[in-house]
Amino acid sequence: MADILIVVGTESGNAQMVAECLQDEFEGKGHGVEILDQWDPGQANLAGRETVLICCATHGMGDLPSNIQPMYDELDGSKPDLSHLRYGVIALGDQTYYDTFCKAGQEMDGLFNRLGARRVGERLEVDASTQPLPDEEALKWAEEWETLL
Ligand SMILES: Cc1cc2nc3c(=O)[nH]c(=O)nc-3n(C[C@H](O)[C@H](O)[C@H](O)COP(=O)(O)O)c2cc1C
Repeated sequence: MADILIVVGTESGNAQMVAECLQDEFEGKGHGVEILDQWDPGQANLAGRETVLICCATHGMGDLPSNIQPMYDELDGSKPDLSHLRYGVIALGDQTYYDTFCKAGQEMDGLFNRLGARRVGERLEVDASTQPLPDEEALKWAEEWETLL
């Protein structure tokens, strides 16, 4: 069983809903789950974690949601060694923003990769224009992701 920190980047709640849905799912299977939706280094305690799931929407013109931007800035600046971590990424976006589709989730993925963490599984990219139920897409993806932990 894993202890999973789900890091949420959201402006209008979809990523939060996905995180809460996955929390129920993973806890039902015996995993421990904590959701981080505001940057709090103490709660995040990345040095003491093994497994992180990033669940991040894109806003503006390819921007990170404002609640996760401080985490990105802090980690990008201080560059902690995260080589003890494994992580997954669920990126929420909309294909009608063609040039910046899921860019924030991709940025978070790149950041964790640069800091030495190991991604488990492929990044899920959910397109709001064709996939109106991101929680269902995430649940399908999580079935396999969980087996890789
Ligand atoms: C003002 C605005 C800007 C957006 N910009 C992008 C974007 O640049 N790229 C993208 O893939 N999706 C973009 N989206 C789509 C959101 O990422 C998508 O609707 C997502 O499900 C929102 O998740 P949230 O409710 O957790 O914030 C944008 C949505 C809004 C309302």
